[in-house]
Formats: sequence, structure tokens, C-alpha cells
Amino acid sequence: MNKLVECISNRDSSYLPIWFMRQAGRYLPEFKEIRIKNPNFINLCLNSELAAEITIQPIKRFDLDAAIIFSDILLIPYGLGQKVEFKKGEGPVLGDLKIEEILKTTAQNFLEKVSPVYKAISKVKEKLPQKSVIGFAGAPWTLLVYMLNQKSPKKDFDFFKVIKNEKLTQKLLAKLEDMISLHINEQIKAGADVIQIFDSWAGLLPKNQLFNFCYNPSKNIINKVNNKKKPIICFPRGLGKEYAEYCEKVSPHCISIDYDVDPQWAKNNLKGIPIQGGMDPKILLKDENAIKKEVEKYLKIFSGYPYIFNLGHGVLPDTKPETIRYITNLVRKKR
Ligand code: CP3
Repeated sequence: MNKLVECISNRDSSYLPIWFMRQAGRYLPEFKEIRIKNPNFINLCLNSELAAEITIQPIKRFDLDAAIIFSDILLIPYGLGQKVEFKKGEGPVLGDLKIEEILKTTAQNFLEKVSPVYKAISKVKEKLPQKSVIGFAGAPWTLLVYMLNQKSPKKDFDFFKVIKNEKLTQKLLAKLEDMISLHINEQIKAGADVIQIFDSWAGLLPKNQLFNFCYNPSKNIINKVNNKKKPIICFPRGLGKEYAEYCEKVSPHCISIDYDVDPQWAKNNLKGIPIQGGMDPKILLKDENAIKKEVEKYLKIFSGYPYIFNLGHGVLPDTKPETIRYITNLVRKKR
């Protein structure tokens, strides 16, 4: 029944579950219709009725195996009292970081601000009892990047310019670990079957900082999540060959690979941990032959291996909804 959970927990290679990162989003006309009427993105995420409806949109259209809750990783800085806005064409813009205030934020303060997320999860679970519902959170490092940089980092991001005060940074990391664990546990209580941790900016870390800022914080969170029965998928984007060390040190229940990772290498080097994703979302903008060739490459490599079909990053806004249907049908036929 819960295909994603079976694939991960039983290392079951027989089913090939499929879902897409950013499956609920701007490539869907029905999402854009709601979005236009709701210019404040954070408020939209905190409208449990609409968040549940948006979560279900791609399931209604494509009958995917999992519904990821419509929310955002930046709700954690928001819940900690940092201002978060989404400006058109600019992406997220965060307010000044008031570290002392953030460190003083209690679990209760945090939950008062973000609890509609949990309500939305319960609504989705009620409406889709047969599907896997995915809750998620940003990893501490990725959240730290947004909180310190106050916007998405660019190519010229310099770790040592942004991390000036090691001691304060460590305190902030510890606070983030607590709040992320709380947020994940509340999502599980509300009905999430699987959790994904997005470390979208892991690839920005210098190699000698990976333990401090990426592996250890993610491992700590996995240890802090009370209900260990719910599988955790980790997505440390941009790690390259360090994906192997990540799997060894963090031992996630499932590992999501980005499109720079060679899938054959991943199959041979990631300790037999169930693998998710990999295909480049830009290929979805090409013609059907090119798409089919690439989908078949992943299916062939991961045949007989516990694999969840997904992409190596989120669906791009210019993707045609019919492409998602096309890929879903291809994968289904291979089951
Ligand atoms: O369908 C889903 O995947 C669920 C919803 C979801 C969103 N954001 C909705 C969203 C998820 C899982 C996220 C995660 C997220 N948010 C990440 C990690 C994954 C990744 O992309 O690396 C990050 C880094 C963010 C932060 C964020 N949110 C950025 C940088 C942006 C702006 C640029 C962009 O990619 O859209 C957002 C906005 C956002 N989050 C939108 C959606 C649907 C677009 C909002 C809009 O309509 O303008």
C-alpha cells in the first residue's frame, strides 16, 4: 500500500515508486491560478486548506505514488522570527539575522507560527490514505546559508566571508538542529509517512568543513527524530564523490542523488542504500525521444536495486505538465 515506505524500509526493488521534487509548483496551471490570488508565498504555505489542495494537485493529475507537502524550507527561519519574503523574479529575501532573538525562541513560539503545516499534512493524509505523504525540512547548513546570506547564494559564495564568528555559528547550528527535529517530529505526528531533508547547498562547503556543517548536523537530526519507524531520505546536493562518505557517516534510510552524480557509480558505491532520483530536470525540456532515452538509462541501471524514480533537482517552471505524465507512464510500463 505504502510503496515508498516499502521500497525504502524493505529495500524492495520490485515496485519502482515515482514522484517529483517540486511536483506541486509553477509548471502547473492549477497552481498558478491559486498563486496569483495569493501574492504572499509564506501566507500561502500557512493556509492549511490551500496548502493541502496544492499538495494534492499533481496526484490528481498524474496519480503519483507520493504527495510532498506544499511548504518551504524557509518556514524554519520564519518560525524563528527572521523575516522571509519571496520577491517576484528574485527568489527569497530574508531580513536581518538577530541571533540573540533566534536563540531565545522557544519550541512553543516556533509551533505557534508554523503549526498550519501540520494541519495541512493531516488533511492530505485524510484525503489520500493510500499514498505516501512526504514531510520535509532544510538541513541546518542550507538553512544557515539562507539565514546568513539573506538570499540564495551565487557562484561567488565564500564560506569564510559568511562564517565570521565560529562560536556563534555553532550555537545557531545547534538551535537549528533542535528546531528542525521538532518540525520533523510534528510532521510525523500529523501523518507524514516519509521525511526528506534537503541540503541543497552542501556542495558549497569546503571539504574540510563537511563533517562540521553537513554530516554531523544531519546525523544528529536523524538521531533526534523520535519515531525512527519513519524513513528519512537525505538530499545533500552537489557533494560529488563525497556522496559515498556522506552515506557512510550519516546512514540515511534513502539517498537522493543530484544530476552530477553518475548513477552507475552511485549504485556501486553507496552501500546498497536505496537511491532516489538523479535525472537532470533540464532533459524534461527536450523532445520525447531524448527524455525516453534518459529515463531508460536510469531504469536499466537501477533494475533490481531499490530505486525511487525522481529527478536530480526540482521540476523547472517551463516543464510541460504532459512531460510529467509521459515519464510517469514510461516508468509504470517498466514495473
Ligand atoms: O512540490 C514540492 O516539492 C513541495 C514544495 C516545496 C517548495 N519548496 C515550494 C516552493 C519544497 C520541497 C521546497 C523546498 C525548497 N525551498 C528548497 C530545497 C529544494 C531545492 O530546490 O534545492 C529550497 C532551497 C527552497 C527555498 C526556495 N523556495 C527558493 C530558493 C525559492 C525561489 C526559487 C524557486 O526555486 O522557486 C522558493 C520558492 C518556492 N518554494 C516556490 C515553490 C512552489 C515558488 C514560489 C512561487 O510561486 O514563486
